[in-house]
Amino acid sequence: MHFYSIISNRTADEMPKGDVLMKILLTGATGYIGRRLKEKLLQDPEVQLRLFVRNEKKVRGQFRAQMEISEGSTFDKKSLGNALRGIEVAYYLIHSMGAKGDFKKLDRLSAEYFLNACIQADVQKIIYLGGLGIKDTASKHLLSRIETGEILSSRPESIQTIWFRAGTIIGSGSASFEIIRNIVQKLPVILAPKWIRTKTQPIGITDVLEYLFQAKDLETKENLKVDIGSEQMSFRDLLLKASKVMGLKRLMIPVPLMTPNFSSYGLIFISPIPYSIARALVQGLKSETVIQNQNAAKFFPEIQPEAYEKAVARAISEIEHNQVISHWCDSSSQEQCDVKGKDRITGTVSTFQISRDLNHISGEKVYESALTVGGAHGWFQHNWLWRLRGFIDKILGGPGLNRGRRNPVELRIGDSLDFWKVVDLKKGRRVLLFAQMKLPGKAWLEFSIQKNKLIQTSYFLPKGLWGRVYWGLTLPFHALVFKALANGILKKAQSL
Ligand SMILES: NC(=O)c1ccc[n+]([C@@H]2O[C@H](COP(=O)([O-])OP(=O)(O)OC[C@H]3O[C@@H](n4cnc5c(N)ncnc54)[C@H](OP(=O)(O)O)[C@@H]3O)[C@@H](O)[C@H]2O)c1
Repeated sequence: MHFYSIISNRTADEMPKGDVLMKILLTGATGYIGRRLKEKLLQDPEVQLRLFVRNEKKVRGQFRAQMEISEGSTFDKKSLGNALRGIEVAYYLIHSMGAKGDFKKLDRLSAEYFLNACIQADVQKIIYLGGLGIKDTASKHLLSRIETGEILSSRPESIQTIWFRAGTIIGSGSASFEIIRNIVQKLPVILAPKWIRTKTQPIGITDVLEYLFQAKDLETKENLKVDIGSEQMSFRDLLLKASKVMGLKRLMIPVPLMTPNFSSYGLIFISPIPYSIARALVQGLKSETVIQNQNAAKFFPEIQPEAYEKAVARAISEIEHNQVISHWCDSSSQEQCDVKGKDRITGTVSTFQISRDLNHISGEKVYESALTVGGAHGWFQHNWLWRLRGFIDKILGGPGLNRGRRNPVELRIGDSLDFWKVVDLKKGRRVLLFAQMKLPGKAWLEFSIQKNKLIQTSYFLPKGLWGRVYWGLTLPFHALVFKALANGILKKAQSL
């Protein structure tokens, strides 16, 4: 059940009432765009921000003055009504793509509930970001984004809606950019399908955020559809220009008969993106995504979108300097990214536990060291076994090790970490990872620091007979890698 809570000392009615602060609700605050917009809005001293999240743990520890957190879902009218109380401007950065069931229907319902709740709460403006493209040639995903925009804009007499439409967003950690980066970096010869010549108009994430940010202060009162993008180019140019920025020479060979399914399947082996997202993105490439109106230049003349090459260079630099604020797998919209309820280890579980004395190493250092496992740094020893498991997982349709980690030293609840997800963090005491690889059951890996000891436990909740056989067969390998892991964590903690 969803409930409403303000994780601050104030209640909703105690939010500042003066005219000085603009009261803003940000939905999708745990998603790719929302996490970044949150940071930008918080830099504005005239903003009082309330985040609307499905799982407050994902933003726990990130509390700031001028910010409140409201937990709920757009499908829960009560939580929505509470979250919108006193709000002037509401950002809608939500989609249900990847959710179980009919995502189009969910998207439609979510938008309808949101619009009605905004009108009831006397909100003045909704700001929404959808995708570029036209209905005639749109993919299923894009059609749903268009329908969401139409619903949110359907009551101009009661509320203003500013509907932004963007194509490929270039930013560190975005799904589209991860695909571009991995294709260019890993394939010296790129097999180019027919749709590689389709026209698109990419835009850097910095510009997207600037438009969204400025829209809250736009004086115009009528509904607006604002198409945003930098220069027009084909997907072929998108890849070739990116390779130039990365200092790589790439050869492109046309293969006109290559199907979207085949291309999507290829993408999952070279990029961290799962098949469902890769397929939706590839389907989208078959139709043009170019701007249809000049409202961006008319209403936001001071924003000059930066050149594509500059946005690529910025994204690469953020990755190299560990400054990736958000990641395509931050939200639970994909089953592979979901964390809700995974922090409870329930049922009959098999365990494998290793306990090590800290021997005068401080618990904080051991915790810090446990936070750095995986990703490019690896798992201390027997990395080939981890890589082999990752490869098998990819073949079976799991995430494998390709996702790596967002930041080499910092973890947040909801972060992906190779084939794990971070589901609980208790500073200085506990790191809990939930396994997202393909398994005949559920598995967790816990690092717990208690009474001068590091206790590392792997838990497995087997599914059926095959689950039990799997646990038995893999136990010798687990013993090998997990012992080395606990030793590695302590050794590293000593050197910190
Ligand atoms: N990212 C891009 O490259 C791109 C490009 C063009 C347009 N856009 C548009 O930008 C918008 C945001 O996209 P995004 O990439 O930031 O998405 P995202 O990373 O998948 O985030 C989706 C957000 O929606 C939240 N959410 C989903 N269902 C919800 C519900 N019923 N109630 C409350 N919250 C819910 C998720 O919360 P949980 O964390 O709990 O799952 C998450 O915070 C979308 O409309 C998208 O079409 C994005």
